[in-house]
Amino acid sequence: MSRQISVGTVDELAPGQRKLAFIDGRSIVLFNIAGAIHAIDNSCPHNGASLASGQLEGCMLRCPAHGLRFDLRTGSMAGAGGLSLTTFPVRAVDGQLVVSLDGPAASPTHA
Ligand code: FES
Repeated sequence: MSRQISVGTVDELAPGQRKLAFIDGRSIVLFNIAGAIHAIDNSCPHNGASLASGQLEGCMLRCPAHGLRFDLRTGSMAGAGGLSLTTFPVRAVDGQLVVSLDGPAASPTHA
């Protein structure tokens, strides 16, 4: 069952901008590319590097660690490498950006 989680307002993410959000202990990066919002897990499938500062070329995001390129629309790696980003559905609802996450909420950690 998926959960719908607001990660901020649509106005915060103008075209060309990106935003880091933390949900249930996971780090998610949102991109606005020419008005289309994309949300990905902030962990490169190659070796786990943060993708938040990756260089964009259109919809292609270059991992800052080793330079692999991924299509934000599909999550797929350029070429035939077979690696794939974890992507999340995101939509605008009443001015809010809402990300859909699968599965139950992570258990809170207690000291
Ligand atoms: S960790 Fe992203 S390309 Fe290696």
